[in-house]
Amino acid sequence: MSDDAVFEHINEAKANMDHIYNQPDPRTYFRELRKLGYAIPGLAKPIFQKLISHLRRWPDDRVRLLDLGCSYGVNAALLKHDLSMPDLYEHWDSKALSDVTSEEVVAQDRRFFGDLDEPEDIEVIGLDQAESAVAFAEEAGLLDEGLAVNLETEPLPGPVREELAPVDLVTSTGCIGYVTEKSFDRLLPVVTQGRPPWMANFVLRLFPFEPIEATLSDWGYVTEKLEGRTFVQRQFASADEQERVVEQLQERGIDPTGKETEGHLLAEFYLSRPSDEAAATPIEQLLRA
Ligand SMILES: C[S@@+](CC[C@H](N)C(=O)[O-])C[C@H]1O[C@@H](n2cnc3c(N)ncnc32)[C@H](O)[C@@H]1O
Repeated sequence: MSDDAVFEHINEAKANMDHIYNQPDPRTYFRELRKLGYAIPGLAKPIFQKLISHLRRWPDDRVRLLDLGCSYGVNAALLKHDLSMPDLYEHWDSKALSDVTSEEVVAQDRRFFGDLDEPEDIEVIGLDQAESAVAFAEEAGLLDEGLAVNLETEPLPGPVREELAPVDLVTSTGCIGYVTEKSFDRLLPVVTQGRPPWMANFVLRLFPFEPIEATLSDWGYVTEKLEGRTFVQRQFASADEQERVVEQLQERGIDPTGKETEGHLLAEFYLSRPSDEAAATPIEQLLRA
């Protein structure tokens, strides 16, 4: 099976959520995912924060992130502010926002996020194929820059090449599988123009990371998986979804017993860094420090 066919086959096992990804505001996304206990951005936050602190070379140094599959600016909201996923569910799935227009949500959110402290000095560029979600995240002030582009099918627009050159850290939650090595192939020549950024991806156990790892390796990266830890992405949307996912894991030789059989889609964490940096500080040591 080609890599394309593998990813397509795996994606068919997962419940289709496309209808919630490209709305003019995040209310439907948060309402639907709250029901499934979608948790991965919150679990990723402390790990991303550790990496940010390692990448901040001086106290007043601004760290630049590129968040792949940024959606409505979820990781940006969590990383810029002292907020958790339960806070975001409370905010976007609240009664106060249930009867207002999308324009009003944008206006209220500009004020809401604008009034919050930003303890981390970070800049977040977000990339997602969902134009409306990216537009919301920019207008609400969560993203410093939004790129509505699908790198699986199209190249990066020329003018953004300079903006992406200084990126220090590429992040993703819930996105690998939709995004494959094709997107990394298009990003790598651009983001490695200066100091090559670290790549921090939370990846469902369902998806092979090897094709992306191989592409990164061609650019001098070494990928480490954080061993012995899994991260809850969300509950299964149905018994059927769980059955299909369990079957696919077994087909790929991954034992779901005591893991996905217990009711959740689980992700693992992969960190890819230039080989000299990976050799200097292995992932366990880096995340412990
Ligand atoms: C499960 S959501 C995760 C969103 C966010 N990172 C989070 O954790 O809340 C998956 C995201 O991937 C985006 N996506 C799907 N295909 C994509 C592609 N080819 N390029 C970029 N983003 C894509 C979707 O639009 C959606 O926003």
